[in-house]
Amino acid sequence: MIGIFDSGLGGLTVLRALMARFPQQSFIYLGDHAHMPYGDRPSEHVVELTRACSQHLFERGCKLVLLGCNTATAVAARTLQRNWLPQTVWKTHGHNILGIVAPTVEAATQTPWAVTTPKYPQSYISDRIAVFGTTRTIASNVYADEIKKRCPKVRVIQQACSSLAGAIELQASREDLTGLVIEGIEGVLKQAGGVAPHRAILGCTHFPLVEDLFKEHLPPSTVILSQPEVVADSMEDYLSRRTQYSQPSADPSLLLLTTGDPQEISIRARVFWRDCPGFQQA
Ligand code: DGL
Repeated sequence: MIGIFDSGLGGLTVLRALMARFPQQSFIYLGDHAHMPYGDRPSEHVVELTRACSQHLFERGCKLVLLGCNTATAVAARTLQRNWLPQTVWKTHGHNILGIVAPTVEAATQTPWAVTTPKYPQSYISDRIAVFGTTRTIASNVYADEIKKRCPKVRVIQQACSSLAGAIELQASREDLTGLVIEGIEGVLKQAGGVAPHRAILGCTHFPLVEDLFKEHLPPSTVILSQPEVVADSMEDYLSRRTQYSQPSADPSLLLLTTGDPQEISIRARVFWRDCPGFQQA
């Protein structure tokens, strides 16, 4: 059983890509709606909430937890993998936690995560990459640091879109969402002196839910990297090497959990995913 966690509905973008890629795997999804948004919270809160949600998914029978949230990954993944998990009973049972920044950086730089020094030809890549994220993800600098380690000549233009995830989650009007997306894009273009970025990373799993607005307002030459697809590619590679986490079944199950109000969250989720099964209380 694979667990996927996000502060809210954004991680469903990752879940759906994984369900399409692994139709025979069982999944449990957990949205921490009671504490959403994570993007403006102090780091210690994000670490503690991510730990509690990972533990909940382990207790529900998941051996592998994927943090389907850039904020949780940027702020908490390393701490949980290095400091928390090794001290728990879960580690001795072989449980693991993965984040979504590593596969995204690998795709953006065309460099394996294990390679942390620039190698030809990556050191000569001099693209401009725009990264849109929550305040906390951008403040962590994780995308800029990890991309530049591998491709020092890349220009990373980071832009916090602080209210966008919350507005998507609460189903703000199309007009309001458009305004927030345009504000973020203008921020990037201003930093880049009006020059279009070659690529854009929507570094918050909520943002693909308004990818059409990003497409419409980014310069036409900017290519959006699809994080859910990139994460599915990386998971495919991971599961082929770590078969203990892959349990294909002829009758796979899907359980959607929330720390918020299941009825309200189910209604909201169906705006993005028409056939979304109902959420249950975590
Ligand atoms: N979906 C989350 C992410 O990928 C964050 C949303 C929030 O601020 O809670 O960063």
